[in-house]
Amino acid sequence: GTVILAYSGGLDTSCILVWLKEQGYDVIAFLANIGQDEDFEAARIKAEKLGAKKVFIEDLRSEFVEDFIWPSVQANAVYEDRYLLGTAIARPCIARSQVEIARREGAQFVSHGATGKGNDQIRFELTCYALYPEVEAPWSMDANLMHISYESGILENPKSHAPADLYLMTKNPEDSPNTPDVLEIEFGNGVPLKVTNVKEGKSKNSPLDIFSYLNEIGGKHGVGRIDIVENRFIGMKSRGIYETPGGTILLQAHLDIETFTMDKEVRRIKQGLGIKFSELVYNGFWYSPECDFVRHCINKSQENVQGKVQLSVFKGQVYILGRESPKSLYNEELVSMDVQGNYDPCDASGFIRINAVRLREHHRLQGVSSIK
Ligand code: ARG
Ligand code: SIN
Repeated sequence: GTVILAYSGGLDTSCILVWLKEQGYDVIAFLANIGQDEDFEAARIKAEKLGAKKVFIEDLRSEFVEDFIWPSVQANAVYEDRYLLGTAIARPCIARSQVEIARREGAQFVSHGATGKGNDQIRFELTCYALYPEVEAPWSMDANLMHISYESGILENPKSHAPADLYLMTKNPEDSPNTPDVLEIEFGNGVPLKVTNVKEGKSKNSPLDIFSYLNEIGGKHGVGRIDIVENRFIGMKSRGIYETPGGTILLQAHLDIETFTMDKEVRRIKQGLGIKFSELVYNGFWYSPECDFVRHCINKSQENVQGKVQLSVFKGQVYILGRESPKSLYNEELVSMDVQGNYDPCDASGFIRINAVRLREHHRLQGVSSIK
């Protein structure tokens, strides 16, 4: 039989390649370019030397941004309040392409290098089952254009600090420039359409260029580093360190333009859906009926999320400077402290008294129970 092995050029997947050959399989090595810093030609030569029958190198960067990062931006997707899911959303992207190759090459098997103790195994295999049910599944990797994640080894002790030279995508904020970059991000349907560096006057328009540029600026100013202990799907806690420079800038900008243009109650429901989306994606259920449904609703919520946000990026932080939108729900006259607007302050007295009904009752009962 033929196996499509998601091959990284690293030790684990090289051993797997050799082992699969020893078991009598024809191995086709598949290298996904999702923006990790890697010498793909060197990996091709290595795979060929180890006995791969064919080697495919697929440039998935644009589809990773458009089909996986943008929906996550729309959702403000964050797992357990901090992790932007840079690995979790790359898995279905890689596995989708792997399955395409398996179909094209008539392969009966796909293989990955993830251990049996983590999340990645679940994500790869669930995607393969969803998109290519007739295939058999087992695969590792952790860098892509959205983020780099670091775990295990010396980091397994949750108390020990990450060494300063660990980070590859972001500068230490202590050593970052002493002048900010000021960016204007234009959104349409909740995704960025254009990024302009206001001082330099240069812009980016394609999804991949936009995201890569935000990574460059975020990286330069040390934006998007986190160190967390998270809950794996399978029930154990793990310590992880992540750097997500461009994603962190976009999260802040998107939160801003979204609140500016979205109805208050719609926003609350959508916020809950964003948390649900993040959990589903973390757990490997990108290709599931419930995730389709949630994404559909989130997409609907983004119809009016358009406009421009200006922000500065400086010393590990993103500072929002201002925003404008044709769909703004902000009414300067209504909110002004200097103008009456279409609002009668006398209405407020009754509104306050009615809200106080419940509070008075609460106090009355507490008063009773505190009498011994
Ligand atoms: N803990 C993160 C996640 O579950 C990162 C996993 C990194 N994967 C890896 N094979 N090193 O998404
Ligand atoms: C792995 O098991 O390959 C890394 C950790 C994870 O997938 O969560």
